[in-house]
Order: sequence, then C-alpha cells, then structure tokens
Amino acid sequence: MDPTKLLEADHRQVERLFEAIDKTEGDERTPLIDELKTSLLAHMALEEQVLYPAMAPATGKESVEEGSKEHELARKALTDMVDLAPDDPGFGAAMDATKASIEHHVEEEEGELFPKLRKNATILDEIATPFMRARVELGLPMDAAALAAASTKDELLDEANNAGIEGAASMTKDELADALASAMTR
Ligand SMILES: [Fe+2]
Ligand SMILES: [Fe+2]
Repeated sequence: MDPTKLLEADHRQVERLFEAIDKTEGDERTPLIDELKTSLLAHMALEEQVLYPAMAPATGKESVEEGSKEHELARKALTDMVDLAPDDPGFGAAMDATKASIEHHVEEEEGELFPKLRKNATILDEIATPFMRARVELGLPMDAAALAAASTKDELLDEANNAGIEGAASMTKDELADALASAMTR
C-alpha cells in the first residue's frame, strides 16, 4: 500500500477548505476554519509520527529536517490566522500567509519526497500498518477513493479481515475500500 496517496488526498481536502473559507464571510467561516485547523494539525502530526522518522533512507536526512521545520512554520502561521476573528481586517493577510507556507511545503512533498518514497517499497510497506492506525487515532477521515488508489485489492482484503468486516471475501475492490473507509472513520 502507498500511504502517500492518502496524504495527497488530505492535501486536496485542505485546498478545498481554503477555497471554501475564501468564498464565505464572517460567522459562516468559523466551522470551516475549525475543520482546517483540526485536519491540518492531524495531518502534520501523522507525517511526523509515522512518515518523517522512516523516510531518511529514501529522501536524505536534510529532507526530514526541512519538512519538520516547514511544519513548524505552517503551525505558527495557522495559529496567527485562527487567533484572529474571521472578520478582522488582518484575517485575509494571515490566511494568505498560511496558504503560501502550506503550498510551498505541499509542492516539496508531492514533487520530491513522495516520488522518492514511492521508489522504496520497503519503507512504504513498513509504515503502512502504523500509518493506518495513527490515522484512526488522530481522527483523520478516510477517503474511499484515495484508499482504493493507494492499495491493491489483496491489501484491502487483508485490512478488511483485520477490521472484522463481514462478507469481505466476496466484495469488489471499490466495495472493500468503501467498507474500510466507513469502518475507519469515526
Ligand atoms: Fe503533507
Ligand atoms: Fe508535511
């Protein structure tokens, strides 16, 4: 299984949230900002707990340090943003700064780190199970389409059996991804 596919789905979700915040005003923004904060913090924690400690042999040690530093900067920008009321005159600028910091980081992950990791099946296999477990613990949503794209049918069947999903043996790949996604999303 390729956990980086699920991380990319998280990135797209964060981009959608930034767009949604951009299109709304005042109080309407509050639940979107809350969701952005929760999912970004959980996504970064997941990478720091499972991915970054394992990736040095594929990406080099500097990439791990750079990634961690960029997370720190993104968290600072995010804190500045969420500390402001959505209708504060400075909110737009604070949001642009957060977005820019995250865009830069996502470009590096998707353009450099993830492609390097994908060439190293050993690391991906090693982190797959702890990655899925940490996702559930951190309360990150599981996207069925991303799960199907990240896994072979056999890998999904194994996970479904582990999760005690009934009738897994007769399910198609997409059905397995759907069943797992609902079982793993709290
Ligand atoms: Fe990421
Ligand atoms: Fe990251």
